[in-house]
Amino acid sequence: MSVSPPDEVRTKADPARLSVAPMMDWTDTHCRVFHRVLAPSALLYTEMVHANAVIRGDRGKLLAMDACEHPVALQLGGSEPALLAEAARIGAEWGYDEVNLNCGCPSDRVQAGRFGACLMREPALVADCVAAMVEAVRNGGRPDVRVTVKCRLGVDDDDDFDTFLGFVDAVAAAGCHTFVVHARNAWLKGLSPKENREVPPLRYEWGYRLKRERPALTVLLNGGIAAVEPAVAHLAHVDGVMLGRAAYHDPFVLHVLDARLSGRPVRTREALLRDYLPYVQHQLEQGVPLKHITRHILGLFLGERGGRAFRQVLSEGSHRAGADVELIEAALDCTRPGHVRQSA
Ligand SMILES: Cc1cc2nc3c(=O)[nH]c(=O)nc-3n(C[C@H](O)[C@H](O)[C@H](O)COP(=O)(O)O)c2cc1C
Repeated sequence: MSVSPPDEVRTKADPARLSVAPMMDWTDTHCRVFHRVLAPSALLYTEMVHANAVIRGDRGKLLAMDACEHPVALQLGGSEPALLAEAARIGAEWGYDEVNLNCGCPSDRVQAGRFGACLMREPALVADCVAAMVEAVRNGGRPDVRVTVKCRLGVDDDDDFDTFLGFVDAVAAAGCHTFVVHARNAWLKGLSPKENREVPPLRYEWGYRLKRERPALTVLLNGGIAAVEPAVAHLAHVDGVMLGRAAYHDPFVLHVLDARLSGRPVRTREALLRDYLPYVQHQLEQGVPLKHITRHILGLFLGERGGRAFRQVLSEGSHRAGADVELIEAALDCTRPGHVRQSA
């Protein structure tokens, strides 16, 4: 079985040294535009959207994306090759640069639908899904769109590296050459999705070993990467790192890491936020409530002087009718030297 990617895949510039994880309810288009300002070089992922929803749902809402978000990947959920193929074709038509299949989500709802992490036990089915998606984006005139997979190391008590490698080989042979590896198992019984991101132990070594044993594949490592130095250290062993919760809760980390990897200077939090304001203003003019946008920026001053007040001003004020960018200015004021917050 060959796992070598075709030439067009191997030679294409791969923007995936740094990426921001798909996160349901979090990485919507407003969040991704903010992350793009912070991390000009990062690959961004949407929230997971089920293939059925892409086909039958309100695409204007589900697939909304701003032109500045590129490179951006659409993450799909599902396990029926024909539906995933159609959803991938639509995603490519909407301009997404990559279509990613979720093989890592452990929620009960997802298990009932037989997709997400339980697909780790069905490599042949995942291979069929990937093959159908690759063909669909090609036939849809977007052969440049990568079809990728985000997976775990295994499920429940799986602890055999060769089983994991067997999954990867089967899926790679079907045309997936990039694997995002959330480097822990998913425990399908007894843990909530949140616990499934914390309790099963991380085993980064499996991600490193996958890259060593399958050097032609692109391996992105995910799970518990929360600071610049560990992220840089992982990059000695894999092609890329994906940050999830850290990028969301402490977005400045994303900026500093992107600056480090791209050689660009680190900018101030305020300068970054000011670059985001024209987008915010535009969205307000389209009728988007401020709270839908500001919820993504609450952590920008985490650990800084005035960081708590910044967060509080935005969380309290953005729900009020007529809230606009002046509220962001007021929140920024809290972070200035000598500022004393007036109580309301
Ligand atoms: C709120 C939330 C929602 C998530 N939604 C998704 C999702 O839609 N698809 C997915 O593959 N992973 C999802 N994840 C998992 C993340 O993509 C990532 O794999 C996980 O959080 C581990 O990375 P981290 O330690 O950097 O956060 C979600 C995580 C969180 C915190």
